[in-house]
Amino acid sequence: MLESAIPEHYRKERTCPVSTPPNYEPPFPSYCARFPAKMESLVLAIIGAQYASSSSNDGAGISTIKKFMTGAPDAVRPSFWEVAAVTDKKGAYNIAVLAYWPGADIQKKWAEGSGFQTWWDALDAEQEKHGWFVEVLSPSLERFETVFSNHSAPEGAANMQESISGEMEEHGYWGSMRDRLAAAQADKLVGGKRDIVDGEQKAEVGKTTAKRVRVSGKGNLCVIRSGQDWASTLPDERKLYLETMHPVLIQGMNFLRDNGREIGCYSMNLWDVVDTDTSKADKEKTFGLGFFDDIASLEFWSKSHQTHINIFGGFLMYAKKLDFQLSLKLFHEVFVLQPDQQFFEYVNCHEGTSMLNSLGF
Ligand code: HEM
Repeated sequence: MLESAIPEHYRKERTCPVSTPPNYEPPFPSYCARFPAKMESLVLAIIGAQYASSSSNDGAGISTIKKFMTGAPDAVRPSFWEVAAVTDKKGAYNIAVLAYWPGADIQKKWAEGSGFQTWWDALDAEQEKHGWFVEVLSPSLERFETVFSNHSAPEGAANMQESISGEMEEHGYWGSMRDRLAAAQADKLVGGKRDIVDGEQKAEVGKTTAKRVRVSGKGNLCVIRSGQDWASTLPDERKLYLETMHPVLIQGMNFLRDNGREIGCYSMNLWDVVDTDTSKADKEKTFGLGFFDDIASLEFWSKSHQTHINIFGGFLMYAKKLDFQLSLKLFHEVFVLQPDQQFFEYVNCHEGTSMLNSLGF
């Protein structure tokens, strides 16, 4: 018996119909996380340091950030965190902690209780030798969905689950991401326009290095974190992954990173999950982290752009070759955020950094 991704307590009368085909049987199993009913929101905070290049990373930035995770009082520490790094389109090296909390209140208590907020507020952009950034996504649970291919390996926010679902119905067809979002039952989640503010902010801000720049929230901003983990593949599958899937994934991510603006993608980077202690990118785990003007733009790219069609088509061939017995683990999590569920602030970062890129530089 297939389960719906939307838990009972969030179901309501639909004014926006699902796209599930009649008598649908998904081509392969997928699962989602079930969170405690009393949990109303969650937080993903991406807190990082930016260096001109990987060779200028002295390790001090990430070590400062990690201390705010490990040194915080037990009651407010994140439920789960990991470290990831990426060299972006300007050649800058970004290294960040991605940390999750089971609610916006507890994350705020962490920011105060760990000393993070005091430290962050005191940073002087003109004096800093490298960049720093904080991005906080705090969706109510109706505005968040996650799906993963392996039920024994929850990723990201799914580490805060109360249980893992049984095999889920809404996946494997175009439109399924939207069908898994409780908020989309009666709301098309159309993106808000911020063009005028963009213009104002751009004029006011100019160059963003040596400055502290806050980017205001945008109605129904859509953020995706889509992860790939091939660490437990055996040699044959690893070879197949690296030769057939990884190259098309990089092409797709590079398209969105370099030309995404034309289809509503403000920013995309393919990050490596790195070793928490050594910062080495040897974990065989990556994720695309992208910011879109709304969910329709993300749907459009995934369904119709050749780069994701190649990823999708490549995956079906890959899975068939392995008789659907994959050790590759895939997951994604999608956030559709109201303006007050977003916080983006950049200190001494270049203009192309993440949501700074939405200012139109
Ligand atoms: C959907 C494969 C990477 C965005 C799908 C689906 C497959 C797939 C098989 C349909 C599956 C389902 O709903 O259960 C892959 C593979 C990837 C990959 C094998 C990497 C190796 C990405 C990345 C992004 C992305 C990096 C964006 C950052 C999407 C979106 C959908 C989707 C938004 C949902 C479309 C909808 O429901 O309408 N992908 N994908 N994928 N993928 Fe990918």
